[in-house]
Amino acid sequence: MSEKYILSIFAGSTSVRSTIFNHDGLQVISFKKDITPHIQHNGWYEQDAIEIWDAVSSTIANALIVSEIHPDQIASIGITNQRETTVIWNKKTGIPIYSAIAWQSRQTKDIAYQWIRDGYSDFFQKKTGLRIDAYFSATKVRWILDNVSGAQEAANHGDLLFGTIDTWVLWNLTKGKTHTTDYTNASRTMLFNLLDLQWDTEILTLLHIPNSMMPNIKSNSEIYGYTDPDVFFGSSVPIAGMAGDQQAAFIGNSAFKPGVVKNSYGTGAFIMMNIGESPKISNNKLLTTVAYGINHKVYYALEGSIFVAGSAINWLKNGLEMIDDPQESSKLALQSSQTNSLYIVPSFTGLGAPYWDPDAKGAAFGITEQTNRNDFIKATLQSIAYQAKDVINTMENDSNIRITSVRADGGISRNDYLMQFQADLLHIPVNIANTLETKSLGVAFLAGLAVGYWENLNEVQKIYSPGAIFNPVMENAESNNLYEGWRNAVQATRVYKH
Ligand code: G3P
Repeated sequence: MSEKYILSIFAGSTSVRSTIFNHDGLQVISFKKDITPHIQHNGWYEQDAIEIWDAVSSTIANALIVSEIHPDQIASIGITNQRETTVIWNKKTGIPIYSAIAWQSRQTKDIAYQWIRDGYSDFFQKKTGLRIDAYFSATKVRWILDNVSGAQEAANHGDLLFGTIDTWVLWNLTKGKTHTTDYTNASRTMLFNLLDLQWDTEILTLLHIPNSMMPNIKSNSEIYGYTDPDVFFGSSVPIAGMAGDQQAAFIGNSAFKPGVVKNSYGTGAFIMMNIGESPKISNNKLLTTVAYGINHKVYYALEGSIFVAGSAINWLKNGLEMIDDPQESSKLALQSSQTNSLYIVPSFTGLGAPYWDPDAKGAAFGITEQTNRNDFIKATLQSIAYQAKDVINTMENDSNIRITSVRADGGISRNDYLMQFQADLLHIPVNIANTLETKSLGVAFLAGLAVGYWENLNEVQKIYSPGAIFNPVMENAESNNLYEGWRNAVQATRVYKH
């Protein structure tokens, strides 16, 4: 019998990647295609959902053709995705009625402010575990229904469907037969009840979002549907794993035990702590979210979402033209002789956890005549680590658990300067994932478990192998002093409003 594989689709914030894994969890092949951002106004961030789907199809085709793996050799497919990004499309034509409003977009912040002014903060937090913010899908759905002519009527009439990117990809892979999401993606919409594990009808009614638009909600590992042969090269293959990219990274990091913390350094940085089977609500502005639901058991996580991490390094490259390649930043930071009095606060799209200030502006503090390019690069890398410390300190306060190590993954976990500084700042070891593709691997595990490709979580846990470890070397007094400077810098950006 010919060998079987798992296909992972990762529809991320800046690119789509299709990766084929074998039974040892090793990558056989991977193809990636970038997605064009559409920025019509300052703070807005949209994408073309059709371009996302086209990138899914073309990267799958490339992966299958180049690897010479027949579509029938794919035992099952997993989908992981940038979360919160919202698409609304016509049920009959499959055409989106507006662009996909991406998670980073601030265009819906006035809607969020209005709901806060109307006194709904506790109402949403108790039900959904989230804070009212433009980040989450609910504000984006409301914006599209308000701003696209005739959209509310069409929605009321049952002609429109809503989905986050997982749902959109699944719907297209099944050629419109399956309109489904999973617990993790649902838990980022601000429309999902964390306890009932269903859309919250009270919220839908309050926001005038008809239930007929909403996808079915399923666990993270079960068969949702089958590929339509027209879109999957003549084969009908089960799609059996779905999870938001941060939750997929959680699985890929084997973070199954309560207390384990992971930080995925991508466009943003997303820190999650496994808090077990009950959804404790944060007292300190962290989010409560579903970590994963498998075999009728649901685990929850506390999450701190940092909006700007890798995008700050992209800013050094594309905006400031200080580096040619993101990897170069580590070497250049080490050449800086600045004694750390320069702080960059990269709040390009406001500040996420634990501040939640959509109007905070980016700033640099401590510039002198001697400040040079390398200092700027170092301070930008440090800003990513400072933001992670803000969240991890808050997580310890919220959970009363002393965090003793962090698992790190994502492209910039390969930045040695940053990882060492992160360990120094936190005073704990930072363990780097062995693979860069924890998200794709995590959802491959979910898809494989559902069809018996891997038998159980124990088998999957054995495949996980940790990579390099960065241990703290800086004196605590020094790192505490640096961190105090960061806190002052953040405070100052929050006073400046223009
Ligand atoms: O919540 C947004 C998140 O899912 C996007 O992740 O890796 O593209 O920064 P990333």
